[in-house]
Amino acid sequence: MLPTVNFTETDAYNYLSNHYINIAPKHLRDLFAYDPDRFEKFSLLFEDILFDYSKNRIDEQTVALLVQLARECHLEEAIDAMFKGLPINKTENRAVLHTALRNISNTPVLVDGQDVMPSVNEVLAHMKEFSEAVIDGSWKGYSGKAITDIVNIGIGGSDLGPVMVTEALKPYKNHLTLHFVSNVDGTHIAETLRKVNAETTLFLIASKTFTTQETMANAHSARDWFLTQGGAEKDIAKHFVALSTNAKAVQDFGIDTKNMFEFWDWVGGRYSLWSAIGLSIVLSIGFDNFKELLAGAHAADNHFKNTPLEENIPVIMGVLGIWYNNFFDSETHAILPYDQYLHRFAAYFQQGDMESNGKYVDRNGVPVEYQTGPVIWGEPGTNGQHAFYQLIHQGTKMIPCDFIAPAQTHNPIGEHHTLLLSNFFAQTEALMNGKMEEEVEAELKKAGKSDEEVAAITPFKVFEGNRPSNSFLLKKITPRSLGSLIAFYEHKIFTQGIIWNIFSFDQWGVELGKQLAGKILPELRNEGDITSHDSSTNGLINQYKAWR
Ligand code: F6P
Repeated sequence: MLPTVNFTETDAYNYLSNHYINIAPKHLRDLFAYDPDRFEKFSLLFEDILFDYSKNRIDEQTVALLVQLARECHLEEAIDAMFKGLPINKTENRAVLHTALRNISNTPVLVDGQDVMPSVNEVLAHMKEFSEAVIDGSWKGYSGKAITDIVNIGIGGSDLGPVMVTEALKPYKNHLTLHFVSNVDGTHIAETLRKVNAETTLFLIASKTFTTQETMANAHSARDWFLTQGGAEKDIAKHFVALSTNAKAVQDFGIDTKNMFEFWDWVGGRYSLWSAIGLSIVLSIGFDNFKELLAGAHAADNHFKNTPLEENIPVIMGVLGIWYNNFFDSETHAILPYDQYLHRFAAYFQQGDMESNGKYVDRNGVPVEYQTGPVIWGEPGTNGQHAFYQLIHQGTKMIPCDFIAPAQTHNPIGEHHTLLLSNFFAQTEALMNGKMEEEVEAELKKAGKSDEEVAAITPFKVFEGNRPSNSFLLKKITPRSLGSLIAFYEHKIFTQGIIWNIFSFDQWGVELGKQLAGKILPELRNEGDITSHDSSTNGLINQYKAWR
């Protein structure tokens, strides 16, 4: 199915190891000085998205070798296998077809010989019809009033995608107020329920499995609350809908399957915002805008599928990540959007990337002898500049960064956007150039410092620079451009998973946490001391019991 090449045993890896010795001492400042065409060579324009990767520690040979590495790992065949619906998620024996959910060109996509597109379109039509009724007020609550508030109850992929996208696309929002409850900490649901009225609230219970502890606990509490607020059992159908693959569990919960929006096991949780899990997005920005989001992602899918690897944006993003992770030994990767609406973008891809590529066993079931997925983190700029950028500029760790900014703002107030963008451009330039000793000395002298003072202060003010970054400049954050950007990041994760020879679409590490919590729960329900664990866990549980 998927090839099982150990990338460290390829010819390209061998060449790259030698090439690294040549590139590592070179400074980006010099690479730019020697090559006036560097930006033209190392930037790609896709629709209204400019991807500039010229501020990376690379030359033309690096890119050629990294692409060769991808080819030797059979990336092209792997892309083909994913789009064709082959069961590449082998440990769960499933296809990986979030791309089918946004396949607006409707070409058949076969899973086990069956075209999935009719079912995809059926659910989309259901989402359209339902959302229009809620938005135009013809869907009434139990007392005859229109819906004003939507509460999405879900966690992980059944929460982060909808939260991130509805925040990112707030300028497209209608009159409905959206709330998201994810944490099993009762505070989350309690604080949300304080803000809403049962007569005018619609709950979306978003869970692929419909068994997730947190979501089920919150869903039951929401239903209990609804019944104490004047709603009756017969009214549940007007106020609760389910977004799930598990019809039986939905029925057992008491939701009529007429009010269930289905998706399928070939949609991974962290890739599910394009499915029925996106109903909160549709309710927030309307079906047409959701369709645009899908269209943007579909265009990016076609780019990923059809563009030679050398000019393929997600492939280049992916191989650059490999270059830093596996040759420069960088451990983390920062995502830094200069757009307040994208404030959950890094958090979204923290799950997307780390749950996908946080694996130490390869596709042969053997522990790897190389690094796989990086730690993904980040916050919007300019806030991050006043928090953690110090370490990016002058710390001892190399942190490759993605800077993302729109050229046009949805909120043109005074000079705000120009100020924001001046920071966006300045940061990547400063990370690349740094500040040389001579510059610092000249500055200090100009400020009237004595020779002694200059000598004492200079070392602290020198920035070595040579710190790599990618820049994404979007014309504007629209449903379409956002759809493309998200899809690029998804395919970057895929590219890296193929090269690292790991399975990117399971998450057994998280499943373990679910089992362990389930085991301890009965022990917390009982009175009496616990002795069944190690002394630390016993000690903590017993102190909790004494204090609760
Ligand atoms: O966090 C683990 C996980 O399995 C994610 O992959 C998933 O997005 C999340 O739990 C929620 O799962 P479900 O949609 O089944 O409730």
